[in-house]
Amino acid sequence: MAGEPDGTVAPNSLEELREGLGGAGYLASESAALVSYLAYRLGKPVLVEGPAGVGKTELAKALSRYAQRRLVRLQCYEGLDEAKALYEWNYRKQLLRIQAEAADTGWDDVQEDIFSKEFLMERPLLKAISAQEPVVLLIDEIDKADQEFEAMLLEVLSDFQISIPELGVVEASTRPLVLLTSNNTRELTEALKRRCLYLWLDYPDAERELEIVNLHVPELPEAMSRKLIEVVHMVRGLDLKKPPSIAESIDWARALIVLGATDIDKSVFDRTMSIIVKHRTDLDVVAERVGVRLGNGILGHAESG
Ligand SMILES: Nc1ncnc2c1ncn2[C@@H]1O[C@H](COP(=O)(O)OP(=O)(O)OP(=O)(O)O)[C@@H](O)[C@H]1O
Ligand SMILES: [Mg+2]
Repeated sequence: MAGEPDGTVAPNSLEELREGLGGAGYLASESAALVSYLAYRLGKPVLVEGPAGVGKTELAKALSRYAQRRLVRLQCYEGLDEAKALYEWNYRKQLLRIQAEAADTGWDDVQEDIFSKEFLMERPLLKAISAQEPVVLLIDEIDKADQEFEAMLLEVLSDFQISIPELGVVEASTRPLVLLTSNNTRELTEALKRRCLYLWLDYPDAERELEIVNLHVPELPEAMSRKLIEVVHMVRGLDLKKPPSIAESIDWARALIVLGATDIDKSVFDRTMSIIVKHRTDLDVVAERVGVRLGNGILGHAESG
């Protein structure tokens, strides 16, 4: 691990980054580690796409923990605009300032004063650009913002500078590590994709998910976590409206601990399956297909196939 002069940490190799992320509580897949490493080395933003609950947001958080960089987060939503993403003048404070001014002060003096940094409210993008030390910038759920916002973002991401008419241009003195996440609710523009490295995060294989659950819920006995993963993967294999994600696996593991369950049998499953399945119609499908198998003792014995 290489300590940078500014106190942050930068990886010297792919393996180092992967281990570092592990130390920060994130078990990165091969591709997640690779793309993150390239983002560091090439200074390019990463666009992370994938289903809900597979660790898109957490990757950015883990990178910030590992690199000891501050996390600056912009949560996107419909109608998000520049005032909430870049900066906004603090009108109320400006007004008070004007009122407090002696009546004979000229407008020029007042204006110079009220459009200074003191009256500027920095929003996440400006915060990340103006930061003295390199940060991790998470632009979460970019697919929820409008296309116009995406266009504005493109400018910021290609120049790493923001122009404020009353103040001048704010240029980044350090490069933030930028991650954008998307749940695919709409197709992002080609222009945005072209500027980013691309990472598709999917549900992990059973081995990795087992490691993740063990990491988050170490109290769950190994035999139970294995069975839990087996069940979750089986449920994911059904044609559901909303398959369970890693987040649900972790929640389920925690719930089993709280309830003091010692096995995942049919009765435990029936009582707790709504933690991993959250649609009325899905519940019926799962109760029938998985519940019945558990009742027959078919699950939880990998060797019996
Ligand atoms: N590789 C991993 N290592 C450790 N924990 C993980 C990993 N992937 C996911 N998790 C855990 O799974 C949970 C869900 O992750 P996260 O919130 O990042 O999902 P997401 O993809 O951003 O979901 P959404 O699209 O709903 O926002 C978190 O508690 C996170 O800690
Ligand atoms: Mg997320």
